Amino acid sequence: MLIAGNWKMFKGPAETAAFCLELRRAEVGVADVVVCPPFVSLATAVQLLAGTEIAVAAQNVHWDSEGAFTGEVSPTMLRELGVYGAIVGHSERRQFFGETDETVARRAEAALAAGLSVIACVGETQAEREAGETEEVLRRQMSVLPHDEQLVVAYEPVWAIGTGKTATPQIAQDAHSFIKSLLDAPVLYGGSVKPDNAAELLGQPAVDGALVGGASLEVDSFTAICRAATHL
Ligand code: PGA
Repeated sequence: MLIAGNWKMFKGPAETAAFCLELRRAEVGVADVVVCPPFVSLATAVQLLAGTEIAVAAQNVHWDSEGAFTGEVSPTMLRELGVYGAIVGHSERRQFFGETDETVARRAEAALAAGLSVIACVGETQAEREAGETEEVLRRQMSVLPHDEQLVVAYEPVWAIGTGKTATPQIAQDAHSFIKSLLDAPVLYGGSVKPDNAAELLGQPAVDGALVGGASLEVDSFTAICRAATHL
């Protein structure tokens, strides 16, 4: 079980330091735990979580090791910081920053080649689900992802992200089984995972963990989800 906290654009270095110190003292159980702070807070998180089992990952990564790419951060730069991995293809990047299947694939391949682990996000929108296109969308998004032992997929139905609308355990199970039929990789569920629905979602056989947004911002709710993973 892997529980990853995607902080999105929350917590600068000071708040990150406070969170990590509290997280160090908290009980997280036996799940593999990863936090994904904004770029500017990665160094603080790496330093303060050193010597623990909790890993630190970035929320995005570029495909080149350096170059004229204003605003981007390379896999080698993340490695230099001691970062363990990166999220790629989050739906917010696809929706608001022009991320495409092709750029997601390039980011994933380069990160893996540099020795980072990758959490690659896929998932359909509400309109795509209503049009019966879920499998087609997932097939398309999955088709570009490299086969690699360090690749984890996160199924995040766009309609469930930040909306409080969680996929039912059955919807998650069906989508995860479909994804696993396309690629043999662990699949995390993401989309309004909270302490009170985590056990049910994580209890599905094809659900290998969670990518948690809002509920990962407080140590109490994040560690409650981590502990829910432990008791399965
Ligand atoms: P949420 O976000 O848990 O706040 O819905 C999940 C995500 O976007 O990774």
